Amino acid sequence: MQTRKLGSTGLEVSAIGLGCMGLSFGYGPATEREAAIALIRAAVERGVTFFDTAEVYGPFTNEDVVGEALAPFRDQVVIATKFGFDVGGVQGALNSRPDHIKAVAEASLKRLRTDVIDLFYQHRVDPSVPIEDVAGAVRDLIAEGKVKHFGLSEAGVQTIRRAHAVQPVAALQSEYSLFWREPEVEVIPTLEELGIGFVPFSPLGKGFLTGKIDSDTNFDSKDFRNSVPRFSAESRKANQALVELLGTIAKAKQVTPAQIALAWLLHQKPWIAPIPGTTKLHRLEENLGAANVVLNAADLREIDDSVSKIPLQGERYPAHLQALVGR
Ligand SMILES: NC(=O)c1ccc[n+]([C@@H]2O[C@H](COP(=O)([O-])OP(=O)(O)OC[C@H]3O[C@@H](n4cnc5c(N)ncnc54)[C@H](OP(=O)(O)O)[C@@H]3O)[C@@H](O)[C@H]2O)c1
Repeated sequence: MQTRKLGSTGLEVSAIGLGCMGLSFGYGPATEREAAIALIRAAVERGVTFFDTAEVYGPFTNEDVVGEALAPFRDQVVIATKFGFDVGGVQGALNSRPDHIKAVAEASLKRLRTDVIDLFYQHRVDPSVPIEDVAGAVRDLIAEGKVKHFGLSEAGVQTIRRAHAVQPVAALQSEYSLFWREPEVEVIPTLEELGIGFVPFSPLGKGFLTGKIDSDTNFDSKDFRNSVPRFSAESRKANQALVELLGTIAKAKQVTPAQIALAWLLHQKPWIAPIPGTTKLHRLEENLGAANVVLNAADLREIDDSVSKIPLQGERYPAHLQALVGR
């Protein structure tokens, strides 16, 4: 697996990482612990060195599983986790007060069975705490040797600039894929200017871009996609045109739609490292195969032209979660 540098802070990761959230949270029942550990270790064996988790996934259990799985390989891998939700408080409430960030770091270190967090992201911008104070808290943790790099997630460009002025930001993690291209407008140019890496989450469009989801798909009752307007049966039906297009391109290249979706991201910038999530070994292998898919300029132009003609239906988040992004 090739590696990539995330921005100018020297953080180097496998070109494709593993998003671990779905093993514990978000898409229905958690994967059985031993199976989750085996999947994470299978990723290490296949060259993945970039693992994504968060305090809130579970909450807590995902960090714990990731920590146990990676403990034997700790010095070969980059572990990214996130703070910023008020876990245990009102559901969805935020807390990025500096004392809280420091307490979360200590708890995450324990669950991750490590003495340093490689990449510590603020999960969502907390409007009640100036971003300078957040960056200052992470700067302190870096000075103490408890954190190596600072990251933000779904932050707006002004926030990114202000944070970066206090403590250089290694990476922004935000949604980006052929299903959600808004970061191209302002965010990606800002990251390029500042030398910040980009970690696209939901790079497979929460599974939609793989072609394995259609208007007849029934999600588990606990699956978060039941609340997402873009995943209503009507939206899924309307948005099938995108999946069909990816299917046609994939067939011509003798690869899969998921591989086209990930390869397209890798071809956007050399400092982009997507973190697809899966609970299944054969899909992990399929997704990692995307690192070997070459798209030439004509392919990229064709994808761009065709995708831009497809109107996508449905908001990417329900209103209460949409309110937390882009600030
Ligand atoms: N910062 C944030 O706010 C934020 C938000 C969301 C996610 N994330 C991070 O980003 C990671 C990835 O995002 P995501 O999990 O939301 O979305 P994703 O990677 O776009 O898609 C995951 C979904 O696609 C399915 N899938 C994966 N590979 C597949 C393949 N080759 N063929 C068919 N289906 C496939 C998975 O199901 P199976 O398990 O059944 O394969 C799962 O339902 C998460 O794990 C998390 O670490 C961060």
